[in-house]
Formats: sequence, structure tokens, C-alpha cells
Amino acid sequence: MSAPLIEMIDIEKHFGSVIALAGVSLSVQEGECHCLLGDNGAGKSTFIKTLAGVHQPTKGEMRIDGKTVHFPNARAAIDAGIATVYQDLAMIPLMSVARNFWMGREPQKSVGPFKIWDADKANAITMEEMARMGINLREADQAVGTLSGGERQTVAIARAVYFGARVLILDEPTSALGVRQTANVLSTIDRVRKKGIGVVFITHNVRHAMAVGDRFTVLNRGKTLGTAARGEVGVEELQDLMAGGKEMVQLEQSLGGTV
Ligand SMILES: Nc1ncnc2c1ncn2[C@@H]1O[C@H](COP(=O)(O)OP(=O)(O)OP(=O)(O)O)[C@@H](O)[C@H]1O
Ligand SMILES: [Mg+2]
Repeated sequence: MSAPLIEMIDIEKHFGSVIALAGVSLSVQEGECHCLLGDNGAGKSTFIKTLAGVHQPTKGEMRIDGKTVHFPNARAAIDAGIATVYQDLAMIPLMSVARNFWMGREPQKSVGPFKIWDADKANAITMEEMARMGINLREADQAVGTLSGGERQTVAIARAVYFGARVLILDEPTSALGVRQTANVLSTIDRVRKKGIGVVFITHNVRHAMAVGDRFTVLNRGKTLGTAARGEVGVEELQDLMAGGKEMVQLEQSLGGTV
């Protein structure tokens, strides 16, 4: 079997005397959706910010395609193909979907000696990429503020995919969404995975994780409680684990971790 796309090995992160991560390991294969679950303060965001180059790990190793990497900043992680979609999305509501899609990377065309943004090309590609994710826009000029929360998530995901992400990190993409929009985002995750991209899906919601996850890692107070593959663990067990629940000891076997 080829090396995982991403391996995070025994990652620790201290903020002064606060130990946010106390040795967390996780790997992602091509085309895999790896769900990262855990209660508030478990260390999920800290972990993915480390993977995204926003934080430097205090200890531990990261590998891409089996080779050790260091990300001094977020740009370095993006250049290595790691795209992160944060919950607050950093979109500009009054700007068009197309402008938000391109955001500083607009295609240019020459008009005499000038270079201007090629709106026709940008709009056409935006419509096409959104349609691939199952969303048919009325027009690419439509303001992003007129989209639903789920559709906005999809713009951010489509953008990451179009610009060549190999790993897509989604931090709680469904937590603010209703049932139908959640279903849209989950089916988008499924499409992304089928393109061979690795997905790290962070969620509090075990059912959302179960809908698309191939593997599940549960964090509790900066530690991994274990990783289970689909079929090895049920909704209730995961829920219990997230709550640091009473069934943990019985689960030790199925998860193979130190509970
Ligand atoms: N920049 C920071 N400085 C100090 N402590 C921090 C910092 N960032 C996170 N922490 C601490 O690290 C721990 C883990 O926080 P983190 O945000 O990673 O949790 P989380 O699992 O993402 O929680 P939530 O589900 O609420 O988003 C918390 O105790 C938090 O207070
Ligand atoms: Mg968080």
C-alpha cells in the first residue's frame, strides 16, 4: 500500500502551560474521509490549525506522501495542497459568487496594453465547478449573500478543489445548517472524496460523521481515544466516547487505543 497522503504523528501543542494536544496521531489516505470528533475544547481546531500551518507543533512529525514536512506558515501548507475551509468562511456577502470563488486569482485577459479580469471566463468556470458539486446557480454574478449556508460551504469547497487541493480540511461545515443543507454539504464531501482528495471532516455530530466517514478519530482533552474504521463502531459508541462516557473501557478493544 502506498504511503498515506498525510500522516500526523504524535503531535503535541502547548500554549504556555496549557496542553492543547498531548500526542495526537492521524493519517489520511487518498479518497478517504477521516472524521475528527470531540467535544468542545478537545483540541480539534488546534490540531487542524497545526496541519494547516497556522500553529507550529511543540512536538511531533508531519509527513506528506511519506516525506517529513514543516509548515512555517499557512501559505506553505496551501502550497503543499492542504486547503482549509473554516466555519466562518471568510467570504464577502455583497460580492458575486464568481468573485468569491476566484478571490485574488481571477483569470486575466488583455485589452490592448491593459490586463483586465476576464469576467466571462471566470463566470463560466464558476458555474461549471458549482454544477459539478451539484449546485446550479442562476448566474455567477449573484451575490454570495443570497446563497444558503450550505451553498456557501460548497463555494468554498469547490474553490479549494478547483485550485488543486489534495487534502481538504473542513472545520464544522454542517454545525450551523438545517437538514437539507447539511445533506447538500455531506454529498459534496462525498463527491470530493470520489475525486481522490483526502478529507478531514471535523464535527460534533456523530450522525453527520457516520453519513460520509471512512474512519473516525475521537479526541478528548488533547488526546486520541482511538481510531475506528466504518463498520467497527456505531453511532451510540461514538457519542459515548465523545462525552468521555462510561462505555469507554468496553470500547478499548474495538478502537485499539488507550482509553
Ligand atoms: N491560542 C491559544 N492560546 C491558549 N490556549 C489555546 C489557544 N487555542 C486553543 N487553546 C486551548 O486549547 C484547548 C483546545 O482548543 P480547541 O479550540 O482546539 O478545541 P476544539 O476541539 O476545536 O473546541 P470547539 O469544539 O469548541 O471548537 C482549549 O483548552 C483552548 O482553550
Ligand atoms: Mg474548534
